[in-house]
Amino acid sequence: RLIDTKPELTIRLCGPRGFCAGVDRAIQIVVLALKAYGAPVYVRHEIVHNRYVVEGLEAKGAIFVEELNEIPVEHREQPVVFSAHGVPKSVPEDAQSRNLFYLDATCPLVSKVHKQAMRHQRLGRHVILIGHAGHPEVIGTMGQLPEGTVSLVETIADADVYVPADPDNLGYVTQTTLSVDDTAGVIARLQERFPNLTAPAADSICYATTNRQEAVKQAADGCDLFITVGAPNSSNSKRLVEVALRAGAKHSILVQRASELNWDEIGDIRTLGISAGASAPEVIVSEIIEAFRERFDAKVELAITTEETENFLVNRELREVPLTQE
Ligand code: F3S
Repeated sequence: RLIDTKPELTIRLCGPRGFCAGVDRAIQIVVLALKAYGAPVYVRHEIVHNRYVVEGLEAKGAIFVEELNEIPVEHREQPVVFSAHGVPKSVPEDAQSRNLFYLDATCPLVSKVHKQAMRHQRLGRHVILIGHAGHPEVIGTMGQLPEGTVSLVETIADADVYVPADPDNLGYVTQTTLSVDDTAGVIARLQERFPNLTAPAADSICYATTNRQEAVKQAADGCDLFITVGAPNSSNSKRLVEVALRAGAKHSILVQRASELNWDEIGDIRTLGISAGASAPEVIVSEIIEAFRERFDAKVELAITTEETENFLVNRELREVPLTQE
């Protein structure tokens, strides 16, 4: 081997990126439940939208199910954890009727949105939920209120054609992981049409979503490629891909693992941006940076817009369980 002739590459590594406080808490709840009650611990739906996390927990003894009726009768004393995205009210009710012991890992910021929706309803307002149809968080938020009392609006086009029964008694909430800019557009259109529309007491889009999008916005301009580490079913990760493109990245892709990188397509790049969705573990970010280091003479620049200090306590039942390193 003669001289190292790897091409030069600048990596702009966005911060904040990756795990948010709600994801961190949800994973801790499963790990602590395994410690406190032993395997198996059931988890309804992917605890957070990331295969690597799910497989890691499966290896420790977690069993993932989509519905509670999949839990075998002989395991009814074992806990079942509800995912960070939240669940309709019918789910804890169903768990109670089956005599299951459940631990709710719903992110406190999702629970807050649930409360705002209920508050609108208590005050006689019909609730508009801005969000993506079919996402578990949307199913959970709609399921806080009786059927027919929440209307889902996904886009400005939906906002244009929405016909409420009483246009003067409307309140909205949103999914926590939406695009900050797109959502502002949808809200503005609804407010134009319904001037008495009531906002929730606090923003529904969470701090983690807002901060990750802001960091990507600052870093993406001038990037030949922008990589968001995250899963195809992760709403907040998909929004980061869009934000990067709009902010000026030439290409913007979602990647789950380094093995997915197509080096022929990546080709000759000089500047690479990297961020990670709220459910993507840092080890995968490192794995991707390493993969670029093998092919490029890469230097990493941190592109940090703010520091996060949020930290959510786990359920009361689990607070005494020591979280030792493994
Ligand atoms: Fe919660 Fe926001 Fe994370 S709602 S789970 S802190 S992305």
